[in-house]
Amino acid sequence: MADIDVLLNENRSFPPPEPFARAAQVSTDAIYAMAQKDPDAYWAGAARNLEWIAPWKSVLDWTPPHAKWFTGGKINAAVNCVDRHVRGPARNKAAIIWEGEPGDRRTLTYWDLYREVCKFANVLRSLGVGKGDRVGIYLPMVPEAVVAMLACARIGAIHSVVFGGFSPESVRDRMNDAQAKVLITADGGYRRGQVVPLKRNADKALAEAPSVKHVIVVQRRPGGGGDEAFAEMREGRDHWYHRLMQNASPDAPPEPMDSEDVLFILYTSGTTGKPKGIVHTTGGYLTGTAETTRLVFDLRDDDVFWCTADVGWVTGHSYLVYGPLANGATCVMYEGAPDWPERDRFWDICERHGVTILYTAPTAIRAFMKWGESHPAKHDLSRLRLLGSVGEPINPEAWIWYHENIGGKRCPIVDTWWQTETGAIVISPLPGVTVTKPGSATRPLPGCSADLLDSAGNRVETGGGLLALTRPLPAMLRTIWGDDERYVKTYFSKWDGRKNLYFPGDGAKRDKDGYFWILGRVDDVLNVAGHRIGTMEVESALVEHPSVAEAAVVGKAHELKGQALAAFVTVRDGTRPTSELRDELKQFVVDKIGAIARPDDILFAADLPKTRSGKIMRRLLRDIAEGRALGDTTTLADPSVVAALKEQYEEKEG
Ligand code: PRX
Repeated sequence: MADIDVLLNENRSFPPPEPFARAAQVSTDAIYAMAQKDPDAYWAGAARNLEWIAPWKSVLDWTPPHAKWFTGGKINAAVNCVDRHVRGPARNKAAIIWEGEPGDRRTLTYWDLYREVCKFANVLRSLGVGKGDRVGIYLPMVPEAVVAMLACARIGAIHSVVFGGFSPESVRDRMNDAQAKVLITADGGYRRGQVVPLKRNADKALAEAPSVKHVIVVQRRPGGGGDEAFAEMREGRDHWYHRLMQNASPDAPPEPMDSEDVLFILYTSGTTGKPKGIVHTTGGYLTGTAETTRLVFDLRDDDVFWCTADVGWVTGHSYLVYGPLANGATCVMYEGAPDWPERDRFWDICERHGVTILYTAPTAIRAFMKWGESHPAKHDLSRLRLLGSVGEPINPEAWIWYHENIGGKRCPIVDTWWQTETGAIVISPLPGVTVTKPGSATRPLPGCSADLLDSAGNRVETGGGLLALTRPLPAMLRTIWGDDERYVKTYFSKWDGRKNLYFPGDGAKRDKDGYFWILGRVDDVLNVAGHRIGTMEVESALVEHPSVAEAAVVGKAHELKGQALAAFVTVRDGTRPTSELRDELKQFVVDKIGAIARPDDILFAADLPKTRSGKIMRRLLRDIAEGRALGDTTTLADPSVVAALKEQYEEKEG
């Protein structure tokens, strides 16, 4: 039996627009052959774009499942992200154009950023933080988050950023697991006009996280010395950021780091289980993120690059901070929600700051689709030249919507597949070269090797299978913090004994052109009458219907078929969810895919349950569809969404 069946056939394709391809940095595919011939030489070339304190002795030391890159080399990530640029003409270039949700704005030049990073590095040193110590960062999307990350990197401390939307329990568990010495937080952050009380959450967390000896509090709320209503300061432990910075010296020699010294830990919760502390090291991670930022986004000196991800996620680490800053780029950073105060906030930001490259997630694109094209249409988006997508499979219809309504049909779209674990983009088009197909991340980047295997480890030439990475990459995780056994078990045990094969957990198909189409997490695959159905294709068929904005498909136990399909659907604004529409949608899926994929149930939902990073949580929808008590809901962005759905589902059944 196939590990995953192929159901849909998407035939549209888009060559790089002529004017784009003509000006692109890479406009022929020679780079692929070159990199394939000698991947180590390719990555060594990429590493040479960085500034090293001492050269490496070997490019790759690989003892599967462990790999080391650029061993013997010495490097500092902060030096590469700021110092290098202030020595040259980029000194006064904007590094970060920041906008708060209430509308406040700040621009930090590379020189400003350099001084802030150095001063904060000294602040951390004055609190006893040194090389190898762990520092927690629990901040809203403010420039201080970037300063804090780079200041840690400068002194060799290991940062562990916790997304500002996470609860006190999540902060506590992460601080304890890493045994952090210091936590950097803020009195609050703005989200949909409300203040998120970060310091209060931090206080709750720290009541049970005794390793944290100092708390540094950024003042985000108005009010002189800081807003005491949101931040009760504990004598001896808590310090206002701005007070510590007042007297700090801007002279902070960087710590020379071994290439393989840890740069940061970032926890991924996955959908179940104890969060894993994903460990990234310095030289390889910086090489991978800098190189992919340059190539995938065709980065130019005058670009205004906006990656909308929060610094709490890997996308924020790699493509808001390390990748673009290592390239000396100008980055836009926005604190708040896309629908605050209105549903055109993103387009307003793009217009006002002249954004040229926009990198966002399918979950956001589907929300924009739901809200309708009138919002982007109000704004001049003509500066945009390239669009990106990351985080989930992008449904072809959402891809087309993005292409037409945001990209004005002239911007290539890079659908980038990667993970917290890979640290940098692995499968993606090169925008000046690759003919794109909506819904496909296309091919592995130069220097990256991916394959499609069945569960026995045989190669699947075309059709459905399991995605595997067959060679280490410089930006890949090195281990799980404090649990190497779990590292081996989670990522290198899929194909017995073949410790050179990394299993990312995704199902995919490969088409006749060798393009990869990610079909969703293997854990979510359904088994209907012997057919192994990935979630992506059925969901994409539903989203193709003009009334549908978003869909999630799960399996529920069925006497005869093994599993039957249940679909949860949100409709576009202005559409009425009627029982006629329900029947129409069932038939629509049959016409697109075949009777095998006909949903038994369709439930119209106001919203789908999502993780805080915006991924649909199908596990909880399975619980609902099978009438079980809801499993762990703590990683949900909005727990009320599932409770409401459960009630609605039971009413319908009852
Ligand atoms: O299932 C894939 C999906 O997101 C997973 C990684 O999630 P995370 O570690 O949170 O990192 C997200 C940001 C890189 C993958 O295993 N995923 C990510 N990008 C894509 C994707 N699925 C399909 N297409 C993508 N472009």
